[in-house]
Parts: sequence; structure tokens; C-alpha cells
Amino acid sequence: MNRVHIKTYGCQMNERDSESVAAGLRARGYAVVDSEADADIVLLNTCSVRDQAEQKAIGKAWELGREDARRAKPRRMLGILGCMAQNRGADLLDRLPDLDLIVGTQKIHRVPDFLDALIAQNRALGPKPATLIDLDAEAGSQNAIRDHGPDRKISAFVSVMQGCDMKCAYCIVPKTRGAERARPMGDIVREVESLAASGTREVTLLGQIVNRYGAREFPVVDGKSPFVQLLERIHAIPGIARIRYTSPHPVAFRDDLAAAHRDLEKLCPQINLPLQAGSDRVLRAMNRAYTVDGYRRIVRKLREARPDLWISSDIIVGFPGETDEDFGQTRAMFEEVGFDMAYVFKYSVRSGTPAEPEGDPVPESVKEERNRVLLELLEKQSLRRHRELVGTDQEILVEGRARKGEGMLEGRTPGGRKTHFAGPERLVGELVRVRITGATVTALSGEVVVAE
Ligand code: 5AD
Ligand code: SF4
Repeated sequence: MNRVHIKTYGCQMNERDSESVAAGLRARGYAVVDSEADADIVLLNTCSVRDQAEQKAIGKAWELGREDARRAKPRRMLGILGCMAQNRGADLLDRLPDLDLIVGTQKIHRVPDFLDALIAQNRALGPKPATLIDLDAEAGSQNAIRDHGPDRKISAFVSVMQGCDMKCAYCIVPKTRGAERARPMGDIVREVESLAASGTREVTLLGQIVNRYGAREFPVVDGKSPFVQLLERIHAIPGIARIRYTSPHPVAFRDDLAAAHRDLEKLCPQINLPLQAGSDRVLRAMNRAYTVDGYRRIVRKLREARPDLWISSDIIVGFPGETDEDFGQTRAMFEEVGFDMAYVFKYSVRSGTPAEPEGDPVPESVKEERNRVLLELLEKQSLRRHRELVGTDQEILVEGRARKGEGMLEGRTPGGRKTHFAGPERLVGELVRVRITGATVTALSGEVVVAE
């Protein structure tokens, strides 16, 4: 009764939370399995950022329950963790009465304790234990996401903070993840050192507004924000070859971070800088507190610091009140910045957010069309930039075997573009020079350059 499968929805923060839960479970003697069919316990680590994300997880939970009934096998235990657990709490039981566990974002590290307790109660052979629900806030919970699995990870996520104090009108995250809390810098540095000792070469620092890291807790030193101080300390760790971070907020973007992109060579020339909308009117309605021109200035500074920068963005189409003219401005900005990658989202009303009272006035068909227009532009822009790399040599950090193709390896360029090429397994974890020979919208391919 101790094989656990964890399925993760949503953002990288959730991926990281799931990894940490898996490490905690292994330490308690649970086996973490890849397939839900093999599992006695299934945990869904959920996302609430759009209705679709919630519906996916609810659908999955429902299907699992039905499958168990059909196979007349002893019921698997089922838990809902993370953002949707926090957002909906006990209301989930209306749709999913058989849930064993509902655990909010600040209690996720307690999952091993909760499962131990549930299993002990099940053994006691009484009636099925009541659903265990814990959605409480917990002081210091940001410090609990630090354990990694036993496997060597070439590229690892490191959570540096939790929560968010902004009030973007569309966003449920402040409700699901609570107030902004930073981990102490020393703890993060130690975590990265221990990752490096186990063979990690690249870290991606995660935070809801990662460039606000420690803004309330730690002082500015020599004109450098706590986030830039953290970048410098991680930069000094031997073995770490590459540093990335996601996602920054334009409002908290200062010159010290642009300078870090110039001065810290391990800091990769890649950034996901959410624009959300290219119209000042819509930005104001979204409560984003920057202007299109302010955004433009940040991009200019970043490109001055790193001319080879790859820039991606998050965009929402169909926010309440977004007119054709507003969207036209978003589209123009999309082309002007020339995003190499982007995540385009159709607006989804979230309960309890500042924009909820506005409803959802932009028709689905209009959102669909705006979404299509941006994705079409994106394909063109990505492909163009990828093709520019054909014929050049790129330094690739080899992350592992490619999923497809005998003898193929997979890695990334400094700009974060996935690259496939043939090579021996021993190159995993190495930085190798690869001549790019092919490009698609989503990936590159090439050949290892053998030093003469
Ligand atoms: N509807 C659509 N997209 C949203 N996002 C956040 N909230 C919503 C919403 N209610 C998008 C934003 C954010 C990304 C993680 O998800 O673009 O940057
Ligand atoms: Fe991540 Fe936000 Fe989704 Fe929570 S709601 S999983 S923080 S994207």
C-alpha cells in the first residue's frame, strides 16, 4: 500500500513542489511510481490559474474513481494538492466525494505525514476515514521546498520564494499561494551547492515574481537588490555552469538586473518577461503598474547588456474591455519586441480576483481569433530566429538522451532552445559545441563539432 504516483498540472513551481513531495515520500519508504495504474495512492498537484486547468484535474480525479469502481479493485487513495485544493477546499467534495486528502499550497510538505496517518487508519479496519483537509497557512513553509530526488539532475529548479503580494486583476495566485515570503539566501546557496556536488550544471531560480526576491526581507547592498546578490552568490558556485530564472515582473525590474546580465557570464541570455497586454489602457485595468513604453525600455536595456538575448512572454487575450484597438496594440508590440517564444492565454474569470465582477464580456470566438493571430506570429518569429542559428556553432549543455531517435542526445542552447544531435551517453552533463544544421519552430538539430 505504498506506491505513489504524483501527477502535476500548472507551472514550474508546481513541478518543483511535486519533486520535493516525492523526495519526502521516498525518505519515508514510499515508492514513487511513473504510472498511475501501478499506484496505490494517486496525488494530483493542481493548478487554478485558468478554469481549464482546474477542469482537467477534476476530470482526471473523476475518471480514476470510476476506473477503480469498474475494476472492482481495492480503491486507490486519491489526494488533491496545491492551488486548486487551496482555492476550492472542501467544495471539491461536492464533485469528488471519495477524496482522501485535500492539501493546500503551504502544507504540501506534510503529505508524507498525512499519508502515514491515513494508512494507519485504514489498517484499523474501521469505516473509511474522513477526508483529511489541511489548507492552513504555515509560517516558514517557503523553506520546506528544498529536497531533491536521488537522481542526478543536469538542470534543476530551485524555489527561492513563495507567494505574491501583487494584485493583478486577473490572477488567483495571491489567493492560492499566499503572501510573498523569501527563503534565506544562505539556504538557497547551500541547496545549489549540494545540487552542484551531485552533478547539476544548471539551475533555474523560481519565484512568482522572482526579481522581487527578498525585497522586503533583505537590504539593498552597493545598489544591488537581494535578487542580484543571490545571482552573484550562485554564480560563484563551482560546477554550476548556467543560471536561469523565471518569472520576473517588469515593475520590479531595475538596472542592477540588466547589469547582472552583462557581468555574470553564467547568467543565460534568456528571459521570460510577461507583458500580458500591449495596451496601456488594458495594463491599467489589469493593475500591472507599468506602461508599454516602460516595458520597451527594459527590453532595450537587456538587449544592450546581452545582444544575444532570447526573450519570451506571457500574454492574455480577451481581458474584460479589451477592444480590437487594444488588441492591435498588443499585436504590434508582439512584433516590435519580436518574442522568440510566448505563452498566449485566453482570459479566464477566476473567483475572488479583482476582475471577477467584470465578468467575461469578450466572446470566446474573439478570444479564439486573437489567440490564433498571436500564435501565427509566434510561429513566424520563432522559426526566423531559429533559422538564423543554422550554420553557427552553439554551446549546448547536454541534459540527457533524446526521447526519440537511437543514439540521440538532447540539450539546450544558452538561449534555452532545445537541440537534438547524435552523440555518446558520456556527454551528458557536458557543455559541447554543436553545429546547428536544422531548425523547426520548436527545436534545433545539429552535429557535435569535434575539436581539431
Ligand atoms: N486567465 C488567463 N490567463 C491567466 N494568467 C494568469 N491568470 C490568468 C487568467 N485568469 C496567465 C498570465 C500569467 C500566466 C502564468 O498565466 O499570463 O503570467
Ligand atoms: Fe502555478 Fe499559478 Fe497554477 Fe498555482 S495557479 S500552479 S502558482 S500557475
